Order: sequence, then C-alpha cells, then structure tokens
Amino acid sequence: MANALSAPSTDREPLPDCDLCPRLADFRKTNQEKFPGYFNAPAPSFGPAKAKLLIVGLAPGLHGANQTGRPFTGDYAGDLLYATLAKFGFSNGKYAGVANDGLTLKQTMITNAVRCVPPQNKPTGPEIRTCRPFLINQIDAMKNLRAILCLGRISHDSTLATLGVKAKDAPFGHGARHEVKGRSFALFDSYHCSRYNTNTRRLTPEMFEDVFAAIKDHIG
Ligand code: URA
Repeated sequence: MANALSAPSTDREPLPDCDLCPRLADFRKTNQEKFPGYFNAPAPSFGPAKAKLLIVGLAPGLHGANQTGRPFTGDYAGDLLYATLAKFGFSNGKYAGVANDGLTLKQTMITNAVRCVPPQNKPTGPEIRTCRPFLINQIDAMKNLRAILCLGRISHDSTLATLGVKAKDAPFGHGARHEVKGRSFALFDSYHCSRYNTNTRRLTPEMFEDVFAAIKDHIG
C-alpha cells in the first residue's frame, strides 16, 4: 500500500447502495423515484486495469453518467472527451452516449473524484474526502500507470491529496505537468471539458488536444 488510508467498504468501487455520504444517498433515493430507468448508483471506473493513463473527472452528471452508469457517458462533457480519446487512439469503437455502445478504452481508464451524482453538480468538501479512498485504491491498483489527467481543479486537488502532494508543490493550471516523487507517473492538468468551459471557449478542442498530445508523448 502506497498510502495509509484505505477504503471503508469495497476496495476501488463504492457499493451500489453506498451511504457514506448521507446527502448523496438521499439524492440517489430521490432520483430512483423520479427516474426509475436510470442507473442511479455510483458510476464505476471504465477501462482496463492495466491502463497507463487514468483520467479523473469530477462526478457523474444527473442525466449523463448517472443515467448510463459509465463515466462521462451521456454527459455533454463526454462528447469532447470521447472524441479526443478516439483521435489519440485511446479507444476502439464508436462512442454513442450509452453504456452498451461497444466502445472500449485502450491504455486508459476513466474515473471520477466523486462517484455519485451530487445535487447541482457540486460535491461538498466532506463528500470529496469521503470518496477519496476509492481513488487511492484505484491508483494503487494500477501497476502500469504512467500518467494521471486531472480534469478541473477539484479533480486535481483530490488527486494531490490522494498522493500526499502539497498544493503549493503542484499548482493547478491548464496544460501543467507535475512529477510525483516516488511514483512512476506524472500528473497532467486540464480545464474540465464541461459545457460551461467549452461554450465560453475557456477550453477549446485544440487546447484539450494539446494536453492529450503531451500525455501521448509521455506514455509512449
Ligand atoms: N460526467 C462524469 O462522469 N464526470 C464529470 O466530471 C462530468 C460528467
């Protein structure tokens, strides 16, 4: 174990009826009633365990990953993410916004800092901390890991805390790359590929692709 913390329930994935965060568990119950056809459970990480790249998002969107059960799938943010993964050869098949589209990831796993959908897309600090052991165990289990891509500041901060890196030693910045002492992987940052960031052009497809080009170059 590279880290003293350990997951309180299952190892890398919360239980489908995880109740570690009471507000998120209540929100899930509400959504189960309102949207009975949705997945409505913590969205499990997606991709092969032997992946060299781990992409860490924020949390499932209510009508996206929370509906489909696959990170970024059906979410607006997934359109740019999956298109970029395809462009850089990190996926096989065609992304269609549903979990059974047959898409597979190559060398890449996608997860979220918080596995359950939060109200208004905003997890609280305690919820981010409570979910962190799953990220810790996910990272520890990935023996071929060469790069972690943090999408947005919350993902970046949670990943730093996971790795025991101080914020001042690895400040968040779009396109930033940080070496992690004692680890075989580097951290890469990008602005989150959210609807807001792409619509305002804070993040353009070209900016996102530049980050993937740097990652591809790094992992070989
Ligand atoms: N969907 C996810 O699964 N994660 C995000 O960060 C955004 C949308």
